[in-house]
Amino acid sequence: MIKLEDISKNFRKNKVLKNVSFEIEKGDFVVLIGPSGCGKTTTLKMINRLITPTSGRITIEDKDISKIDPIKLRRNIGYVIQQTGLFPHMTIKENIELIPKVEGFEEDKIKERTEALIELVGLDTSYLDRYPSELSGGQQQRVGVARAFALDPDIILMDEPFSAVDPITRTVLQDELIRLQAKVKKTIVFVTHDIREAIKLADKVCLMNEGQIVQYDTPENILKNPANDFVTEFVGDNRIWQSPEYIRAKDIMINDPVTCPVDCTINEAMYLMGLEQVNTLMAIDSETNRLQGVLRKKHVQHAKNRDIRDIIISDYIYANPNESIVDVLKKIDKYDISNIPVVDNKRKLKGLITKSSLVETLSQQYIDDMTEVY
Ligand SMILES: Nc1ncnc2c1ncn2[C@@H]1O[C@H](COP(=O)(O)OP(=O)(O)OP(=O)(O)O)[C@@H](O)[C@H]1O
Ligand SMILES: [Mg+2]
Repeated sequence: MIKLEDISKNFRKNKVLKNVSFEIEKGDFVVLIGPSGCGKTTTLKMINRLITPTSGRITIEDKDISKIDPIKLRRNIGYVIQQTGLFPHMTIKENIELIPKVEGFEEDKIKERTEALIELVGLDTSYLDRYPSELSGGQQQRVGVARAFALDPDIILMDEPFSAVDPITRTVLQDELIRLQAKVKKTIVFVTHDIREAIKLADKVCLMNEGQIVQYDTPENILKNPANDFVTEFVGDNRIWQSPEYIRAKDIMINDPVTCPVDCTINEAMYLMGLEQVNTLMAIDSETNRLQGVLRKKHVQHAKNRDIRDIIISDYIYANPNESIVDVLKKIDKYDISNIPVVDNKRKLKGLITKSSLVETLSQQYIDDMTEVY
């Protein structure tokens, strides 16, 4: 775990960081984001001691880094920057192997690792003998990433690594980084200007402004519960609707669907449907509030039995409160149903998603957008 405690940094009279505190869990992917000059790079460079804080303390696994020899510290921290920092007069192989050689690793081990690394970042070994200028920007960035992994560090710092490549390559590199991270599970601190990139990559987003943290939260919470107007504005058009996987069943469900006791009669059920103008009832066990089945009007009309227990659908399709809207829509489509109950893991009824509640929520978004335009 990396812990920044009450960190401030002044460059002469300029207060660049003001009492910044946050913690990064081991294995987490944290993205630092914010306007130009807000202190992202400064924060990042403090973690590997390229910059020393004016006050405050940084610990890694509870060890104060100011007491660790910087060279030793950096062995465990890979660093990737925007301009790749590859040495132009060295081949790709030489670039990747530079530090492991300085560290005195065995030739065979180095060779083996270099070949594994170049493949890990999606290039093949034929690139190893080329020079950086013979590679595209995206390929060079991949080499930069491979080099950061060369000593197999626990922590990787990345400062806008993909900002100089075209949008398509950038997407590819982001996807590869996600794949890579799933495999190697490093602690990654990544700086970007791009909120989409942040939301896509991060376990947690650290949004900064003028040397302070404005919100340190999951992408979902940044989108759904912005801490203040600055966050809302920063997230801008990238609100939740751009990331439907973060919209949950509980966000869009009707909270008080029409229910009936599972032991009511068909007559009572029909009366209730007429009264409430619905064609589906949630049949509930009154004591436990568990959903026993779904009663549909079309079944009621053709039923001859007196007890609704015989005609409710007890193997109904349902959604969990935390399920994403994308999965809910897939179920609605796959099973061709017009509504879907939301139940917790004890099958207690929490709500109902209907096609019209979906349309209503979605159209509300358009209304919001229109207000913004005019
Ligand atoms: N070595 C330095 N000497 C003096 N001022 C500095 C130094 N490094 C950074 N600063 C100032 O500190 C502030 C924060 O810089 P920093 O590089 O951390 O910003 P950033 O958030 O990374 O910005 P960008 O998005 O443009 O990269 C800026 O106002 C910058 O001018
Ligand atoms: Mg910067």
